[in-house]
Amino acid sequence: GKIILGDQLMERSVIGIDLEDRGYQFGDGVYEVIRVYEGKLFTMKEHIGRLYQSAKKIKITIPLAPEQMMDLVEKLVAENKVYDGSVYMQVTRGAAPRTHMFPTPESKTKPVFTAYTNEVARPGNLMKHGVKAVTAEDIRWLRCDIKSLNLLPNVLAKQEAAEAGCYEAILHRSGTVTEGSSSNVYIVNRGEVRTHPANHFILNGITRQELQKLCIENSIPFVERAFTLEDLFQADEVFITSTTSEIMPIVEIDGKTVGNGTPGQMVRMLQTLFEQRII
Ligand code: PDD
Repeated sequence: GKIILGDQLMERSVIGIDLEDRGYQFGDGVYEVIRVYEGKLFTMKEHIGRLYQSAKKIKITIPLAPEQMMDLVEKLVAENKVYDGSVYMQVTRGAAPRTHMFPTPESKTKPVFTAYTNEVARPGNLMKHGVKAVTAEDIRWLRCDIKSLNLLPNVLAKQEAAEAGCYEAILHRSGTVTEGSSSNVYIVNRGEVRTHPANHFILNGITRQELQKLCIENSIPFVERAFTLEDLFQADEVFITSTTSEIMPIVEIDGKTVGNGTPGQMVRMLQTLFEQRII
């Protein structure tokens, strides 16, 4: 299929990435994943908005207007005839002789924007039955609000989960639950949905923001207050959200059953409400 490099669609096979691209050498860049449902981009504006915010926080100026980027991404999805899938997009600080400090303006280094599409089915079966998780220490830096390419701690946590036969790693800082390795985490007690506040300890997920709206619209208490591992293990229900996992029930954590071991009433209701938003 086609990909985007800079401001153009081109064949994937023709593009070359410079060995000294700073994304490749330093993880010096930011990214987004956007879902495509039945050929339509879901919350594209929000994702592209966050991409510009993340870039700004690390002092990258994207050499493209947001409207132009949205246009290009829509063209890409149409051209590749994506039905149920996703778009991966990233911006790096560009290619320059390797040295930690930013390239000087004189070097005329330009940030590199790339994007490509994937066909991915919705995780219907997993959403219906729920998945298992492990807990892991959150060893990331203190700017988790930036969707940066530096994902090594996330990769290591997800691998721990995978090796334990689990779907996600729930991260905590000395007992305070932050988020998942690639998702946001929620507990449900007495009809109240609770999650970590959107500060520098977590990525404010676009799915999280959609869920928040959905709770408000349906008079479901949505509480942004951090909780502990103890709260996690005692919760009536636990679930995670992300672009690719949508609203995913967690039915077992570190080998211990959550609730009665099946997706709870609240998470099933939220899934139904979310479903109405996306199609
Ligand atoms: N991950 N927290 C982290 C650390 C994430 O990496 C993600 C998304 C989320 C959820 O954000 P959103 O609802 O906007 O997808 C929370 C993407 C999907 C990924 O890296 O593949």
